[in-house]
Amino acid sequence: MIQRIAVLTSGGDAPGMNGAIRSVVRCAVSKGWTTFGVRNGYQGLIDGLFEPMGTREVGGILQRGGTVLGSARCEEFKTFEGREQAIRSLNRRGVDALVVIGGNGSQAGSFALSEMGFPVVGIASTIDNDLYGSDVTLGVDTALNIALEAIDRLKVTASSHQRAFIVEVMGRNCGYIALMSGLAGGAEAITLPEIDTDIEVLADTLRLAYEHGKSHAIIVAAEGAKYNAAALTEYFKTNRDRHGFSVRSTILGHVQRGGEPTAADRVLGSKFGLGAIEAIDRGEFGVLVGIQNNQITTTPFSEVIGKSKPLDEDLLRLARILD
Ligand code: F6P
Repeated sequence: MIQRIAVLTSGGDAPGMNGAIRSVVRCAVSKGWTTFGVRNGYQGLIDGLFEPMGTREVGGILQRGGTVLGSARCEEFKTFEGREQAIRSLNRRGVDALVVIGGNGSQAGSFALSEMGFPVVGIASTIDNDLYGSDVTLGVDTALNIALEAIDRLKVTASSHQRAFIVEVMGRNCGYIALMSGLAGGAEAITLPEIDTDIEVLADTLRLAYEHGKSHAIIVAAEGAKYNAAALTEYFKTNRDRHGFSVRSTILGHVQRGGEPTAADRVLGSKFGLGAIEAIDRGEFGVLVGIQNNQITTTPFSEVIGKSKPLDEDLLRLARILD
């Protein structure tokens, strides 16, 4: 019978993690369970940094970005010895199950831990939206809206100067944020890790836009694309005659991770928290809680880890028609 659980956040923080922590804790309280919050992700698990969390401890955090538990990328946990030490820490506290809120790398850690026999449930949370087993991940809606706000602002100043702006967005090897923010921001071109960009065609698009008297052009570049901001800047520097605009470049970087969670991410985090507690209550471990076709789902880690989520072909087609 479950009596004690622990929750941690791992990897890059994502807006909405606090909503998920709050939900895990309060849903656990509703079952009469005790929850420990683990500080600084897997590192805290190894170091034994546990603290009891009840209803009051998670008050006032729903609207805050980041994670109140702290997060880390932990090399030690990637070793068998590191994970053994983590399991010892969990057993010392009498923890029956662990909830891991994080993205791809973090859930690979969850998988490894559950393969060693510890009961783990993951919550799909990363701004990259690259986790198989969830249509959207916790944090991506906020990150996307931050990117969109930046694009809208850059468009204003671009129009005043008849400039082209390259806007590089995060997402690691996944083009989701770039595709969605490019589409929503009316970008003239989008470069993605998953799709080859014909740089000559992209330059022609800009040239045409310039010749038609457009006052601005926006190129959204995914950080993981071959033509990211640096590569595009380099190309335009050496091929000045290929486009008319004066070009500037902005890398949004971690700005996208720091925002207060949107309503969608607050609700999603809350739903994911409940999904994790219900999975534990059912005795269903070694699974990732996600959302598919608008339903909260669980998918075995074995089906999630190592798979990449394909880009939405319809969105891609639409972006090409509209640019
Ligand atoms: O995985 C989230 C993410 O923000 C990626 O989009 C980005 O490539 C990476 O983390 C940055 O990592 P760090 O925060 O360790 O610099």
